Amino acid sequence: MKLLVTGAAGFIGANFVHYWHSANPGDTLVALDSLTYAGNKHNLAAALGEPWFTFVEGSINDQALVEKLLKEHAIDTLVHFAAESHVDRSITGPDAFIDTNINGTHTLLKAAKACWLSDDATRNNLFHHVSTDEVYGTLGADDPAFSETTPYAPNSPYAASKASSDHLVRAYHHTYGLRVTTSNCSNNYGPFQFPEKLLPLCMLNILGGKSLPIYGDGSQIRDWLFVDDHNRGIERVIKAGRAGETYNVGGHNEWRNIDVVNLLCELFDARFAADPDLARRFPDSPCATGQSAKSLITFVTDRPGHDTRYAIDATKISDELGFAPSETFDTGLAKTVDWYLGNEAWWRAILDGSYRA
Ligand SMILES: NC(=O)c1ccc[n+]([C@@H]2O[C@H](COP(=O)([O-])OP(=O)(O)OC[C@H]3O[C@@H](n4cnc5c(N)ncnc54)[C@H](O)[C@@H]3O)[C@@H](O)[C@H]2O)c1
Repeated sequence: MKLLVTGAAGFIGANFVHYWHSANPGDTLVALDSLTYAGNKHNLAAALGEPWFTFVEGSINDQALVEKLLKEHAIDTLVHFAAESHVDRSITGPDAFIDTNINGTHTLLKAAKACWLSDDATRNNLFHHVSTDEVYGTLGADDPAFSETTPYAPNSPYAASKASSDHLVRAYHHTYGLRVTTSNCSNNYGPFQFPEKLLPLCMLNILGGKSLPIYGDGSQIRDWLFVDDHNRGIERVIKAGRAGETYNVGGHNEWRNIDVVNLLCELFDARFAADPDLARRFPDSPCATGQSAKSLITFVTDRPGHDTRYAIDATKISDELGFAPSETFDTGLAKTVDWYLGNEAWWRAILDGSYRA
């Protein structure tokens, strides 16, 4: 296969490139990323320069560029990750979310339609759209988990922009016959996640002895999935999903935010207790002097319109495509903590801004 991967220098996109190549070493991948603050070429260090990989710095809003890439590389599968992805930023500055998530997705759809639908040889090419469970809004404590038929009710500008892009993708299938699939996934965690999101932010703050900010009372519930399990789910949809369908991807792994942070603190307490070298490397961490990382937990004013609970019903992808997550929360979190401890140069470059160089 020949894939065009948008947003490949971001968290999930970069993990996707590495996952896809290890699972499908004969395939070629072209990465298109405009390298916003969230894009980091170092995430792709293992792929850059390899014969199976091409990196292109550019925007999904540039239709001529996208069409050129689709044609020149004879792309048969477009996997669309590129987005503005941070809910807090969508509250303070929604315009970029409209430009990238709505107009950018529409530009990609126009390019795919123009390049693929005029020729029988390319008509069966696939546009896979990566979306979020946040399009469904929020759940009460006893509500059933989100299924593919749950009505859309996005609450943040981020969620509304993703919902809009999902509808455009659906419309290009129904109106023009473009072969599309969409996956809506729950919260991801794992290597290469930019440290503005809850888990990497807390990990780096534990190591630096900074507070762990918890919105409200921390009772919001999220459903967590290890990033490679998400990418395995996307692979199942690309290879065996039905065109025009959407698939929810999740791991039946609901946690209150405060419980996730407490669990993370306990993991760091145990790591420091087992490895005296960590106290030397991270002397500002409370763990370095035998205190618990939990001493850093600080409750802050809640995010406006903060959704209470997300939960994914993954029955469809499981029954239809045989998807099941490989990691438990324990094994996935342990891998993630080890990755951040083992890749200090990666996150230090983000903290001091030199990753942009
Ligand atoms: N992170 C999660 O927990 C999660 C869960 C479900 C779905 N998703 C979806 O998965 C996708 C990837 O999320 P992520 O967490 O990896 O995001 P991210 O913010 O880490 O990465 C986004 C990438 O898109 C690139 N980008 C932004 N605007 C672009 C443009 N105009 N042209 C080209 N590239 C551009 C950025 O440079 C960056 O590399 C998003 O569509 C997001 O909505 C994320």
